[in-house]
Parts: sequence; C-alpha cells; structure tokens
Amino acid sequence: MSMRHVFPGVYRSGSEIATLNSTPGYRVYGEKVFKDKNKEYRIWDPFRSKVAAAILKGLKDFPVTPDSNVLYLGASSGTTASHIADVTSGQVYCVEFSSTMMRDLMLVCDRKKNMVPILGDARHPWEYDSLVAKADVLIQDVAQPDQASILSSNAEYYGIKKALLSIKARSINSIKSPKEVFEEELKKISEKFKIMQKLDLMPYDEDHMLVNLEAKSV
Ligand SMILES: C[S@@+](CC[C@H](N)C(=O)[O-])C[C@H]1O[C@@H](n2cnc3c(N)ncnc32)[C@H](O)[C@@H]1O
Repeated sequence: MSMRHVFPGVYRSGSEIATLNSTPGYRVYGEKVFKDKNKEYRIWDPFRSKVAAAILKGLKDFPVTPDSNVLYLGASSGTTASHIADVTSGQVYCVEFSSTMMRDLMLVCDRKKNMVPILGDARHPWEYDSLVAKADVLIQDVAQPDQASILSSNAEYYGIKKALLSIKARSINSIKSPKEVFEEELKKISEKFKIMQKLDLMPYDEDHMLVNLEAKSV
C-alpha cells in the first residue's frame, strides 16, 4: 500500500486515510489496520469520525500538529480522540459527561497514555482545569443546542485559538431546515471566531457540518 502525507501524522492511500498506531497491536473500535515498512497504521473511518470525514471532504488546514495539546469535548468512547492521540505526542484531554461512555473511554485511555479521561460537563470548563495543563486546539462534538456557548466558554477559559467544531443540525432544531440552523449557528460563532472553512459531511454524516475556526482574540 503506498502512503502519502495529508497532514503531519495523517496518511492517505487511495480513498482511505490512516494514522500511525501509537499502540501497535491495539485497536479501538474494530478499525482495519495494516503494516507498511514495519509500521502499523489504523484506518480512520469517516463514517465513525467527523474529523476523518472532514479530511476526506477537503479540510485544508488541520490544526492538530505532532506536539499539540488538545482539549476534546464530547469524546464519547474515544473513536476520534484515539486517532488524534496517534497524531500528537501531546496530551489529549477527553471530556465526556456520560458515565456509560466514560467506562469504554477509560479502557482506551489505559492503553493510549497521552489520552486523559475527564468525566465532566463541557458547559463548566472551570470544573476540569486542575486536569488540563495546557491546550492549543479545541475539538468539539457534543451535539447540544448550546454548542456555540460551550465552544466560546472553553476557548476563552483555556486561551485556545484554534478549533474544529462539529455541528449537528438536528440537535439544535429539528423543525428548521439544516441550512437555516447552520446559518444561525455560524452567525453566533462568528462573533468570536473567524470561520476558516466549513464542510458539509455528506455522504458520511447527514445534516452535519464541520467548521475550522480561529479565535478573533483571546
Ligand atoms: C456525537 S458523540 C461524540 C463522538 C466522538 N466525538 C467521536 O467521534 O468519537 C457526542 C458525545 O458528547 C457527549 N456530550 C454531550 N453533551 C456533553 C457535555 N455537555 N459535556 C460533555 N460531554 C457531552 C455525549 O455524551 C456523547 O458521548
């Protein structure tokens, strides 16, 4: 399989993207793995991860670098966060408020040592500041109606300038059209962030958008 870099730490072969497995032999969600020149890669499934979908849909600038510390809000069982933890050797702070999801997430964090599990509500950034030493990038996928306020309160509290936000239209308003919901959300977000790129995630995720953001000032 011939691999080429899409971003530092993210590789592409044909229509698939992958990360270099930081824990060879360990898989997180049943993803396919393959070896190339004695290195093990994990295929990053765009149907399971909105960040992977965004990369395949043409994300131009990936804010996570090989030494970024990442605050990940809505980590769930760690599917996407585990790929982020392959890309960076920095810390990936995984905030999740469901104790059911946290049980699965803890198993992943036990193996991927740069993932820090945090049982907490992303609406209250001050509640986890004793666990977050420093964060450079915010990734948010909480599917909540108040996601714009969650984003800005965390970015302000931790002084984070770069963010990837997943917007699920139906979590915000199931009556309005997704187009209308996206416009309203982008208007709210643009008070504090520059919208660098917005990506419709079809065919991987219906009525979802991923937005690449930079804080106007923090
Ligand atoms: C769509 S899932 C995230 C999937 C995950 N980002 C991935 O790609 O692997 C949304 C997650 O956000 C969590 N969540 C929702 N509201 C939250 C909040 N206020 N604080 C922390 N987690 C929250 C949910 O429990 C759920 O696990």
